[in-house]
Amino acid sequence: MNSQPLHEQMAAMMKRAAELSDEEKLHRYNGVLYPKLLCPELHLKALGDTKARPDDIMLTAYPKCGFNWMVGVMKTIIAEAAGTKVVSEILPLMEFLSPVDIKKFDEAPSPRLVGTHMHPDNIPVSFYTKKTKMLVIFRNPKDTLVSYYHFYNNNPVLPSAKSWDTFFSQFMSGNVSWGSYFDYALAWEKKMDDPNVKIITYEELKQDPSQGIRDISTFFGLTLTEDQVQRVAEGTSFDAMKKNSAKTHATMGNVFFRKGTVGDWRSHFTPEQSQEMDDAFNKHLAGTRLGAKLNYQQYCQ
Ligand code: A3P
Repeated sequence: MNSQPLHEQMAAMMKRAAELSDEEKLHRYNGVLYPKLLCPELHLKALGDTKARPDDIMLTAYPKCGFNWMVGVMKTIIAEAAGTKVVSEILPLMEFLSPVDIKKFDEAPSPRLVGTHMHPDNIPVSFYTKKTKMLVIFRNPKDTLVSYYHFYNNNPVLPSAKSWDTFFSQFMSGNVSWGSYFDYALAWEKKMDDPNVKIITYEELKQDPSQGIRDISTFFGLTLTEDQVQRVAEGTSFDAMKKNSAKTHATMGNVFFRKGTVGDWRSHFTPEQSQEMDDAFNKHLAGTRLGAKLNYQQYCQ
């Protein structure tokens, strides 16, 4: 929604971030931590006024689960789909919008591509009443934690992680920006029967990108030929997106597109930390449908 070139927006944000101490970078709103520069109270308060439309395309994820990958996939699907329409991009995240930007959002032509990390209970209610289709990407909690740790250390708008052990404890207690992974997961678990919600996992998309792309385009009612599916898969591979990332994410390209693998947790977690995460997973998600979809035994044990 900002007409300033991306690299200038980034540079301005980095300059403001450099003026803050680590302690000043996060603040709590309704009990959840958010980066103060990107999601000041004024923006979070105004978020509830957002007016959804049935043809909005909503992408949502807990941080570090592959949101930017999903954005790349969705934009490429839209570009390839027959009868491509103009799409207003309300990216990266809805909760970054100021009240003025929300007004522009309300006036932007359909269909609009919208993103958020907000807990499903904090997504503006109109997205549910208007039956907006929401695509949720999940990732196993061990790799999510590792990715978040590196993100904290390389994103100037977030405080640096004091140490691996400290960040591990903060993640496990939900004291990280956008709150607890497990609270977030349990809230989506309750919505798994909603026909307007589709959950995919990072790991399944990594294993079979073409099938993931077919499923996603079908969910949004967009038709792709098999050649187009293959083109989307090639254009949104980790290597392709990383190569293009200076254009799409300016100086943050290498931060958002770090390693792009499954199982990096094995080179970070101690056996005790691995056990602690296994216990947390069992406590919160074992026996749930989302828990089964995450295929924890295969990817985390
Ligand atoms: P790593 O830090 O493990 O490399 P988000 O976009 O939600 O912030 O998620 C970032 C994670 O998704 C990073 O994980 C990043 O490398 C990974 N990622 C981004 N694009 C990807 C792609 N095309 N394929 C696989 N992983 C990707």
